[in-house]
Amino acid sequence: MLSGKHILLIIGGGIAAYKSLELIRRLQDQGAKVTPVLTRAGEEFVTPLSVSALAGVAVHRDLFDLTSEAEMGHIQLSRSADLVLVAPATADLMAKMAQGLANDLASTLLLATDTPVMVAPAMNVRMWTHPATQRNIAQLRADGVTFVGPNEGGMACGEFGPGRLSEPHEIVDAVAAHFRAGPLAGKRIIVTSGPTHEPIDPVRYIANRSSGAQGTAVARALVDLGAEVVFISGPASVAPPKGVTLVRVETALQMQEAVRAALPADAAVFAAAVADWRVTSASDRKLKKSKDGLPELSFAENPDILKTVSHLPEGRPALVVGFAAETNDVVENATAKRLRKGCDWIVANDVSPSTGIMGGSENAVILISDQGAESWPRMPKEAVATRLAERISTALLYS
Ligand code: C5P
Repeated sequence: MLSGKHILLIIGGGIAAYKSLELIRRLQDQGAKVTPVLTRAGEEFVTPLSVSALAGVAVHRDLFDLTSEAEMGHIQLSRSADLVLVAPATADLMAKMAQGLANDLASTLLLATDTPVMVAPAMNVRMWTHPATQRNIAQLRADGVTFVGPNEGGMACGEFGPGRLSEPHEIVDAVAAHFRAGPLAGKRIIVTSGPTHEPIDPVRYIANRSSGAQGTAVARALVDLGAEVVFISGPASVAPPKGVTLVRVETALQMQEAVRAALPADAAVFAAAVADWRVTSASDRKLKKSKDGLPELSFAENPDILKTVSHLPEGRPALVVGFAAETNDVVENATAKRLRKGCDWIVANDVSPSTGIMGGSENAVILISDQGAESWPRMPKEAVATRLAERISTALLYS
């Protein structure tokens, strides 16, 4: 998959640095040549000996390593690779990159390179969500840096949330997708998928029948065309695709926040079946049966994520795609919906129970754009996804 590819792997300081050892192995298993660079902080977590033993070459460690300066120099080192991969990337290293600082070997290489740079961040959840880190990420994206992860989950520090280093196999998938260099290479696309769960109390929630199958297939098809995909998924019943940056959410409000955090993007595909309402009276204790009668639930309308993103005055993706699940007058309703939401395309489908589309493996869609309505024949959801991804790719080419 990666044979002939040369990867300069910069290992930052952080507890996740231990995963870089497995990453080296897996990259090599795919045929890549890996040249490791260890920051001073990285050396606190993995030893230069273990890194160079695994890589089978000497690890580069310090800016003023006179031998290597004389032999090839950091400029050449930064340019001889096909990809510079930073894993784990700490908040500090990303801040340096965003500012253009060059006060050690890693930051100097990153400033001197003319090679594509991919970053796999890892840090405490508060550090990740801090506005300073988010500003730096936005700057790095604007500079053309691509991201893989971070994942959400439990951390070494005991907290839970986004900030975990992506698993080595996920990073390898992202690297492979980068080299597949499809027509969407360098494009960042947000895909929402699955249902949302709106809690009533800690054990009950309001949900819908969306399986997440169509959104997952769209994300996979976009990855296959080389896109960097941020996949924001509610509690779906199908597994997420490989090679995406996965953000798991439960509620509509969490999905909205995840979309906000994932912007900017070249395109956004809103395939999620977002609950229209949430329970405002959600209890933090399990509701009990009582003689006083049935519980009273009060509702509030959830934010319309598609509509909000479509109307962003600044930073609107060049292409915004919504889905419309209708049970009657599909074209009329979806055409009106496109205008109401302000999106560019609506992928409309008839989800009447008799069609077997909701939760099924096939879909029959109508693509509504400013060019009118285009009916596609009934086909597997994967085929709909492939066709849609190709259309997105063509649209972005001319955007
Ligand atoms: O209004 P309706 O739910 O039919 O619109 C469906 C489209 O809007 C889908 O693309 C869905 O992902 C998106 N949507 C959203 N946020 C909501 C409701 C729907 O992004 N709160």
